Parts: sequence; C-alpha cells; structure tokens
Amino acid sequence: MAALRDVKLYLTEEAGQIAVFDATNTTRERRGMILNFAKENGFKVFFIESVCNDPTVVATNVMEVKLSSPDYRDCNSADAMEDFMKRINCYQASYQPLDPDDYDRELSLIKVIDVGRRFLVNRVQDHIQSRIVYYLMNIHVQPRTIYLCRHGESDFNLKGKIGGDSGLSNRGKKFAVALNKFVEEQNLKDLKVWTSQLKRTIQTAEALQLPYEQWKALNEIDAGVCEEMTYEEIREQHPEEFALRDQDKYYYRYPSGESYQDLVQRLEPVIMELERQENVLVICHQAVMRCLLAYFLDKSADEMPYLKCPLHTVLKLTPMAYGCRVESISLNIDAVNTHRERPEEAKKGPNPLMRRNSVTPLASPEPIKKPRINSFEEHVAVSSTLPGCVPQEVPTQLPGQPLLGKACL
Ligand code: G3H
Repeated sequence: MAALRDVKLYLTEEAGQIAVFDATNTTRERRGMILNFAKENGFKVFFIESVCNDPTVVATNVMEVKLSSPDYRDCNSADAMEDFMKRINCYQASYQPLDPDDYDRELSLIKVIDVGRRFLVNRVQDHIQSRIVYYLMNIHVQPRTIYLCRHGESDFNLKGKIGGDSGLSNRGKKFAVALNKFVEEQNLKDLKVWTSQLKRTIQTAEALQLPYEQWKALNEIDAGVCEEMTYEEIREQHPEEFALRDQDKYYYRYPSGESYQDLVQRLEPVIMELERQENVLVICHQAVMRCLLAYFLDKSADEMPYLKCPLHTVLKLTPMAYGCRVESISLNIDAVNTHRERPEEAKKGPNPLMRRNSVTPLASPEPIKKPRINSFEEHVAVSSTLPGCVPQEVPTQLPGQPLLGKACL
C-alpha cells in the first residue's frame, strides 16, 4: 500500500507519466485491488506477467537478483537460497495466473514466457503500451558487454572546434591502433562494431581488423549555425545562444541544429538495437556517448550533457540485474580535453531567457526523482559519487535498490 501511495504521488503530483509497480500480484483479489486503485485515480493499467518454469533460469535468477535483496542482508547464500525457494513454493499454492482467454479477457497485459522464448499479448490499448510490448520483446538477459568510446582525437579537437567532419590527428591515429590491441585482448566472441557516418569514427574503426556498421543516427549532435566554431567564437558571435545553452543544456536547440533532447530521440533505434545485440563496441562522439551512457546508467536530463566522456577512454558496460557495471579504461594516449564544465551561473536557477523553437515543449515537466519509503542510506551515498564522473569501477548493485538502472526511452 505504501508503494501504491508512491505511485499515486508520482503520477498526480510529481509529473510522472508511467509508474512501474513491481510486486508479486499473484492473486485475482490482489490484482483487483490494483485495478480499483487505478479506476479511482483515472490511471490505465498494463500487467506484465513473467512466467518461467525452467529450473535453471529460476535458480540463476534467485542467485543473481534475490540474494542481494535487503530481505537477506544478514543471511548466507545457502540459507537465503533455501528461504527463497520456500517462498516460491508458498506463492505457488495461491498463484492464479493471468487468464486472457476467460477471466482476464478485458485486461491489457503481456505474458513473457521463459524469459522471452514466447509472448502472449492481450488488448494493447495505446501507443505507450505498444512501445512497452516492443521493448520487452527486444531485451534479453544473456551476459554481454557494451563498449563505448569516442573517435580518436581529430584535427578539429586540436583546434577546439565543434562539429564538422575532420580526420584524425596523429594522436587520434595512435588511439585507433591502441583500440585495436585493446579489442584483441578482450578476446570476445562475435564483437559487433558500430560507427557514425563521420570520418573520425570511421578512421578509428578502420584500424580494427573487424567489419563495422555505419549509423547516421550515431552522428554527433548537429550544432547548426555554430558548427565548426570554437566555444570562444560562439560566445563572441552568438552571445545570446551561448547564454541560452548554458542555462539549459539538455533542452537547448542550436538554431538549424539539434538539442540533447533531439539526440535522445534520434538514438532510440540505436538503443533498441543495443538491447537486442550481445557484444558491441560503439565508436561515437561526445554528445552521443553521453546520451547512451545516460540510458544505461539512468542519468537525468540535467546531468547528461555534463557527463565526462574523455577522448581515448573506453567505457566497458556490463548490464546486470537492476543495473549496469561500468569500468573506465584509459588507453593512455594523450588527447585534448573537450569537456566544458557547467558554468557556475547556470547552477543557480530557472532560465529567464527563451527563444522560439529553442526547445520542444513536453506534455509535462520532467519528473522529480525522490528517495522512496525503504530507500537505503547507502543508495544515496554511492549515487552521490557518480554524477558528472565515470568511476574507475563501481559496485553493481545495492540491497533493494539499483545503483545504476536503465532510464526510460
Ligand atoms: O558539439 C560537440 C560536442 O562534442 C558536444 O559537446 O555538448 O559539451 O558542447 P557539448
């Protein structure tokens, strides 16, 4: 009931649009209670039932996910495993599966059978529900690694210019060679390599002795009228634009160009395909890498444009239950620093300036993330080490709460 109160608060007062109420709603009575709650508040309900009868998958899930739950904080793994198996047996005694052929024929639902081997979908009511079905049909839980890096240092990076389509500097070429060695050392089966359609990522991929795929969607943010300029030139020639961007970097759209928000939308097919694939190396660009990283590490729109993605550094992401392990590996080739810190004045308050067509209005503002009932102090403590900096190595998960989760598309 406390979690349902959170749902209500989130959807009515905190500008939330979709709440995931994750619980073992195994009986019709319990689901009826949720339906009544939704009816009283004017919310739509979409049930997701995961049915798995494969004992190996069940045991792996218990080991990987459940044993680290707060319920078993002071318990050894063998006792925790035994207890959780007993819990499953108890649930089995009262479990009433969703029945889309008869009792539940009016409900909107998806049954995910054996972790994606089969799906049963009933009464998809709207766009969001169809996107949820599409998403669930594309994700998988096979172990895999996603490597994110930027192209090697480019001639424009050396000049401090943004955008454009320049080739690699000498140090950039050295990075490409080092990346090849790094990839070989990882000894991966079937690594897919993706680049943008810009010279600097293609030249970087050329050094790897692997086939690669070019995605236009991975091209760097389009800086419009500011393309091929240094930040200093932008400040001098377009002072108002410069100030506007500092005030809200995520929503700010360059005249004739893009915003980070536009970029997130452009990257949606890439993210979906990343979810479908196993091992992938994405050689991309600073703004693009920030968006991909924000998705995997569940960073907010405010933090995302300031995430640190240095040149010549590979981020190794290992998705796991409720989160993603991240390691930052510098390949030790010098490069310029292209990161521009959030200016002090921009930290102060709401944006008084606004230019037509500078942002895409949202149906509602971005929801506020707040700690919920039963949040753990450790969650707050460890999360606070993350914003703006990618750690060398961080633990994957904390009791009861993901350390690093996946953001909504
Ligand atoms: O414009 C190109 C940059 O790589 C993106 O960086 O969003 O911090 O200006 P910025």
